[in-house]
Amino acid sequence: MPAPAPAVASTTGPQAEPRLSLQRQEIAADTTAIRSLDWDRSRFDIEFGLRNGTTYNSFLVRGERTALIDTSHLKFAGSWLPLLEEQIDPKAIDHLIVSHTEPDHSGLIGHLLELNPEIEIVASKVAIQFLEDQVHRPFRSRAVKSGEELDLGTNPESGVRHRFAFLSAPNLHWPDTIFSFDHGTGILYTCDAFGLHYCSEDLFDVDPGAIAPDFRFYYECLMGPNARSVLQAMKRMDALPEISTIAVGHGPLLRHHLSLWLDDYRSWSSERSAGETYVAVCYVSQYGFCDRLSQAIAHGIDKAGAQVQLVDLRATDTQELSALVGEAAAVVVPTWPAEPDADLQASVGTLLAALKPKQWVACYDAFGGNDQPIDTVAGQLRALGQKSAFEPLRIRQVPHTGDYQRCEEAGTDLGQLLTKARTIAAMKALDGDLDKALGRLSGGLYVVTARQGEGPDARSGAMVASWVSQASFDPPGITVAVAKDRAIEALMQVDDRFVLNILGEHNHQELLRHFLRRFPPGADRFAGVSTLDGMATGGPVLGDALAFLGCRVVQRLEGPDHWIIYAVVEQGNVADTQAHTAVHHRKVGNHY
Ligand SMILES: Cc1cc2nc3c(=O)[nH]c(=O)nc-3n(C[C@H](O)[C@H](O)[C@H](O)COP(=O)(O)O)c2cc1C
Repeated sequence: MPAPAPAVASTTGPQAEPRLSLQRQEIAADTTAIRSLDWDRSRFDIEFGLRNGTTYNSFLVRGERTALIDTSHLKFAGSWLPLLEEQIDPKAIDHLIVSHTEPDHSGLIGHLLELNPEIEIVASKVAIQFLEDQVHRPFRSRAVKSGEELDLGTNPESGVRHRFAFLSAPNLHWPDTIFSFDHGTGILYTCDAFGLHYCSEDLFDVDPGAIAPDFRFYYECLMGPNARSVLQAMKRMDALPEISTIAVGHGPLLRHHLSLWLDDYRSWSSERSAGETYVAVCYVSQYGFCDRLSQAIAHGIDKAGAQVQLVDLRATDTQELSALVGEAAAVVVPTWPAEPDADLQASVGTLLAALKPKQWVACYDAFGGNDQPIDTVAGQLRALGQKSAFEPLRIRQVPHTGDYQRCEEAGTDLGQLLTKARTIAAMKALDGDLDKALGRLSGGLYVVTARQGEGPDARSGAMVASWVSQASFDPPGITVAVAKDRAIEALMQVDDRFVLNILGEHNHQELLRHFLRRFPPGADRFAGVSTLDGMATGGPVLGDALAFLGCRVVQRLEGPDHWIIYAVVEQGNVADTQAHTAVHHRKVGNHY
């Protein structure tokens, strides 16, 4: 046995930027967590902005035989493998359990196979197929699904028997995901599910208040669009004996407040799955940029309060595919390879045959390199006279942040088509007198602007707002109520900066007319408007604004249909000290 390493080993990589370090710690009998800490990672998947970096967690479990659960991101090759070798001779690892094949967890599988070509890879059937393409070398494998087990036997020192039960968890958030439950320690390894992008030395959820916003944000971006799949997986989890810890693949492990996190997942997913109407967002897993683009669209749909079902054309069987597509209110489809393999060809055939005349349909470029032309796909989708939900999303270069923003906004437009009737009904439901009384609340008139990133990664947004109020003196702070389906909402996360442009009494009509237009997805909302760039951090100052405040988001309070965003004011100036702010008087409370 190798000499024991210190309880926490922290090695900083050779480069000063970005900061990478490793952490190793025992978490239960015969069980070691090896966490790769990526302190500065600022982008992940879709347009998912990271504020607190992330971690990639792997685990070593020693019974009579030994299993490693997941590896790490390729960027940790120089430090993760040596740390693993300090723990164990890689040749002595019998099994590598692969929770799913996303590169941030599977990036070092090829390296591990070089060190130990005999290791048996235990994963879902789909994951093993994907890995064959990823590692380009033969390997021993065992495909597992719900109800199957892997027994590592009893550790001779601790006397604990490590017997793994597997649970299929497709779409959480990759099509090939499995959870593994160790009966010996009560630890459930879930990788992406229940995770969060949060990098700190805290191995466990010791401070739930600190991590709750990131836990929620992660759920919304990655799990919300798969809410039905979350509930299915949780049903399988309910049949397990008591879970002591959820060992996630990103962020701190969940142990001290387990029921809190589980209750959150259950209630958020139940809320999202109530009702029958949903959009089927199809994608071809691991083809071009399909995974991420489909997630951006799904996230946009979800923001509008409509339900989404992500459907992997490669991994969903014919019967299920036919049902998922046929029963959807709207169907979004990627371009598929011009020369698909026989299975994919069959899936595309099933998909087209399952479409119904009254559905909304739309398509997006997978940008896979050799796709069917998007107009051909659009034409095939509307063969029965289906309605177009949004213009085909053409992607002409490797997708950048702006493309993901466009996908998200197109998704929100589609979601709003489906929730329109519900929104109008809710507006009409207000009691008449109450409605009129509420309408006597008045506010100023403002345009919120935000801009992030540079060049092709730049994203920007603007919206007219009147639900704005000063909320603190010291430091000066304001609140803005932002509807959950606003495009600009994505740019108003904690620590993001934005500008509140205060409109003048005699000078606001033009600006209102401009910013209240309906903009197509991804449109530049500032074209044709005078802006003073560089005046404030966070967004353009409008040349015709009376005053501006440069703000930084500190907190977001979730209301039923709006986020109440509290921000501190860091900058400000007035163009005309004599002029008054435009005031917005209303008659009813069910409109702005
Ligand atoms: C007078 C007025 C005040 C508004 N105030 C707010 C507000 O405070 N919060 C909000 O989310 N939307 C508000 N809106 C709605 C948005 O400005 C507008 O619908 C939005 O820019 C379009 O949505 P999108 O940016 O998501 O495409 C207001 C609209 C009007 C006409």
